[in-house]
Amino acid sequence: MPNLLHISASPRGELSHSRAVAREFLDDYCVANPSHGIDTIDLWHHDLPALDDAAIAAKHAVLRKLPHSDLQAEAWSSIVAEASRLFSYDKLLFSVPMWNWSIPFVLKRFIDVITQPGVLFEWSPATGYVGLLKKPVAIIYSSSFAYPADGDMQGFDHQKSYFEHWLKVIGCNDISTVTIAPTAGPEAVVSAAREAARQQAKHLALDF
Ligand SMILES: Cc1cc2nc3c(=O)[nH]c(=O)nc-3n(C[C@H](O)[C@H](O)[C@H](O)COP(=O)(O)O)c2cc1C
Repeated sequence: MPNLLHISASPRGELSHSRAVAREFLDDYCVANPSHGIDTIDLWHHDLPALDDAAIAAKHAVLRKLPHSDLQAEAWSSIVAEASRLFSYDKLLFSVPMWNWSIPFVLKRFIDVITQPGVLFEWSPATGYVGLLKKPVAIIYSSSFAYPADGDMQGFDHQKSYFEHWLKVIGCNDISTVTIAPTAGPEAVVSAAREAARQQAKHLALDF
């Protein structure tokens, strides 16, 4: 049975705009694909393996093709298990608020833990980075302000550029996005942004 994993990075529960649009996306997706399985990881309630001294030493050993100590092997196996989970899904959905022009730290932490050589990517001087995940990804972004490319705040938005750079490095080049912005300001403007995002999410869900 095909399956989809939703990874949510907002802590705001029912108040979250990105989660609400992701939920609407999933409702439409389930109608279009009634036999597909859906799982969710809420990064605010998700235990991750430590990225400690032993784990980083284990990563360096992999890069240098050296054997692991027992401590390193234990740290590495938890990290590989966490990262490998992504391979068991056919499609990925992320809901990603903007925090300080980038992504919330729980998502960055997740990225730091799972972005590992021999798991999500390979690297050599000859090939550079070769991404291994190769899954279609849908992303629901949210931010208080809109950041049009030709607006006053051009250059401020590192949310989308950073997150999509990471996805491409790990092999996910098939990326579709919906942005809900602005999520603050006059009620009519926020409602219009929400409705536009809802419509984009609906189209994407039927096509994803
Ligand atoms: C810690 C923090 C930092 C934020 N930084 C920005 C920012 O740099 N730019 C922006 O437009 N909005 C920023 N916001 C506002 C959120 O992006 C906005 O409220 C968005 O709707 C949050 O997504 P959510 O509703 O899914 O939680 C920030 C919010 C928080 C809590």
